[in-house]
Amino acid sequence: MSSYRITLLAGDGIGPEITAVARQLLEVVAEQHHFSLSFDPQPVGGAAIDATGEPLPASTLAACRQADAVLLAAIGGPQYDNLPRAKRPESGLLALRSGMELFANLRPVKIVPALIGASTLREEVISGVDLMVVRELTGGIYFGQPKGRVTTESGEERGFNTMTYSSSEIDRIARVGFDLAVQRSARLCSVDKANVLDVSQLWRERVDAMASDYSGVEVSHMYVDNAAMQLVRAPRQFDVLLTGNLFGDILSDEAAMLTGSIGMLPSASLGTEGPGLFEPVHGSAPDIAGQDKANPLAMVLSAAMMLRIGLKQEAAAASLEKAVDKVLAQGLRTGDLMAEDCTPVSCQAMGEALLKALE
Ligand code: IPM
Ligand code: MG
Repeated sequence: MSSYRITLLAGDGIGPEITAVARQLLEVVAEQHHFSLSFDPQPVGGAAIDATGEPLPASTLAACRQADAVLLAAIGGPQYDNLPRAKRPESGLLALRSGMELFANLRPVKIVPALIGASTLREEVISGVDLMVVRELTGGIYFGQPKGRVTTESGEERGFNTMTYSSSEIDRIARVGFDLAVQRSARLCSVDKANVLDVSQLWRERVDAMASDYSGVEVSHMYVDNAAMQLVRAPRQFDVLLTGNLFGDILSDEAAMLTGSIGMLPSASLGTEGPGLFEPVHGSAPDIAGQDKANPLAMVLSAAMMLRIGLKQEAAAASLEKAVDKVLAQGLRTGDLMAEDCTPVSCQAMGEALLKALE
């Protein structure tokens, strides 16, 4: 029997509640599909700051690197807003991505038919949307040097960051995008700001150069401002959206809203080798933390991505996803998705319904 070690990072806010739901489901689905999972909970983000003073303790990073896969819920909270940036929960997440060398972030956006009314956009605009944001995750302006803050001679304060990509960094994320396009509907749109930024000119050249290896893939380029507009104007035109760290951060939140709630979107962060990290796209929602109101579905779908991509347990992944479809078809909704004629449920009750749906 295969067995896998999962490092479990519940983090902050609603993190522990949605983690509890995902863990229970994973235990059941593993048993049903004849493999075993062991869970190693570790602190990260605000929880780790409270426990150790550091948002990413060395022991947490070490546990993550040794696991078969890492499942993370969410980090951050208003009580940490005034800490120096390096000590904030977000810095822990960035250090984790970079420490595990997770350069490729996959954020699938697929309309669930039962939720079509939950979007603020019209049904005819969003029906049939099925796209994948491929976001570079360990480079670009998030990590570029030099960065910092200085006081100039005239006494003025200056803050600066650097958007930088090397050709090898572009090539490895572009390769992920092209390979995914081949598996999907063979359309890849690379998003940049090549009309203004040198770094984007290089990005575009490298993507074009790689296109010759993938003759079956239809490649297009779009400036990020236009891409932001096209995403809400005509989102079905997109299949794989390939982009850098900052543009991907922004566009993936925008794309999430096509589905009606960011509470539905999972993600996978992958490196060349070593374990992947699987996490919902949403944050820690401190305003509803501890109230049993959170939507656990993005976390459950992230667990499914972990099973599929991280552990190669396709059948188990598919049964988790089927359970999600089933509870939605039954009309069960957490507050973020609540609609007419639906049944409001708590986070825990959603978890119980999912367990039932698995039987
Ligand atoms: C995300 C988040 C993070 C990011 C924050 C929490 C550092 O917004 O995963 O999209 O900007 O990458
Ligand atoms: Mg973001």
